[in-house]
Amino acid sequence: MADQSKRWILMTTAQTPTNIAVIKYWGKRDENLILPINDSISVTLDPEHLCTTTTVAVSPSFDRDRMWLNKKEISLSSDRYQRCLREIRSRANDFEDEKKGIKITKKDWENLHVHIDSYNNFPTAAGLASSAAGFACFVFSLARLMNVKEDLGKLSAIARQGSGSACRSLYGGFVKWNMGKNDDGSDSVAVQLADEKHWDDLVIIIAVVSSRQKETSSTTGMRETVETSKLIQHRAKDNRRLVSELHLIFLILILARVQSFRIIGCVEKWNSAEGSPQVCAILFSFDTSPQIDAGELTSINLSTKNGWRVFANAFVKTSAAAYTFDAGPNAVLIARNRKVAALLLQRLLFHFPPHPDTDLDSYVIGDKSILKDAGVKDINDVEALPPPPEIKGNIPAQKYTGDVSYFICTRPGRGPVLLGDESLALLSPETGLPK
Ligand code: DP6
Repeated sequence: MADQSKRWILMTTAQTPTNIAVIKYWGKRDENLILPINDSISVTLDPEHLCTTTTVAVSPSFDRDRMWLNKKEISLSSDRYQRCLREIRSRANDFEDEKKGIKITKKDWENLHVHIDSYNNFPTAAGLASSAAGFACFVFSLARLMNVKEDLGKLSAIARQGSGSACRSLYGGFVKWNMGKNDDGSDSVAVQLADEKHWDDLVIIIAVVSSRQKETSSTTGMRETVETSKLIQHRAKDNRRLVSELHLIFLILILARVQSFRIIGCVEKWNSAEGSPQVCAILFSFDTSPQIDAGELTSINLSTKNGWRVFANAFVKTSAAAYTFDAGPNAVLIARNRKVAALLLQRLLFHFPPHPDTDLDSYVIGDKSILKDAGVKDINDVEALPPPPEIKGNIPAQKYTGDVSYFICTRPGRGPVLLGDESLALLSPETGLPK
């Protein structure tokens, strides 16, 4: 038995990345176990710029399981949290730290309560995959605390039950989520295709257009899409083709780092018997009822203002960059190397300069060296940027001052890590409560 007389607290802190899908997961065949209707592929983003940090603690002095997210206490009662907790607890193993006088047997874990404190260094639920990083970190940190011996693939199947996209955040680099065939979801796991070093000059620029919570959750959006969209049914039926064609293209792309990079941007365009529907069309629910309010997505507004998408397309055509959106409003642009990224950032800053009250330092965050590569040191340099040559005659050199809240420059990143430095823990080692 764990020694109840001692008021010890055992803690673990971990950091887990977000990911951005280039072949999207959109639609479930089993809502409880979170089993998807197709395979998906994502790029894990550098946790230095976007990540969740989670501290988990266990102590005989805790009277119930408790969780804090971004400094506010939240309920752990949802099925998603409960399922992940149950799955991890059932795999817990004996633990002993003689120095601290802590001994916990496999059986003890069932009765010991946990405190969980989680923090995102980016806007929660604004379409930046916060649930992906959050559930991946929840599962990874609890698994390490409870001395769970399962490999990352098995942990990915547990994280999947918290939020589908979370399973891909268990690995760094380029990751595939195999949809699997089994009814119990045991083969619906993530696998790493290539690590983050494989393509280390890939640059990802996220235009954060709104940091408020997205109004339609992925869960609801997906359910309505599966129930009402004809396009998605073709896609689901076509998983084999999706695998054989798109995944193959993508694999060749990442393994060979081929020049025709913009295919990433097109990889979600696929042909069906009915023409060439695009998954983006499905994601933005052009044939889902009720329609997910695409109007709420500022970036779509930008496109109707003849700014965003036309601009992106112009640049994609000429400079081999790509773009994608998740269910939230933020545009994600991908440049195949730093040179292209610098050109891309110049164009972004030309069209979407900061609001006069915003300084450049808080307008472009993350890997600021791209700003340097773009030759932009201060706001005067932004104002002096010439209209991009490729837009001449296509679109007016319009400016959308203040439409973007900020840009995050990032790159492919590593998978989850434990943070050994106790000063980084979010919970106090004395009280087990948020610091
Ligand atoms: C558009 O993983 O947030 O980002 O499983 O219901 O929690 P739930 O959904 P979630 O959906 C992510 C959808 C997406 C595409 C993707 O990441 O593949």
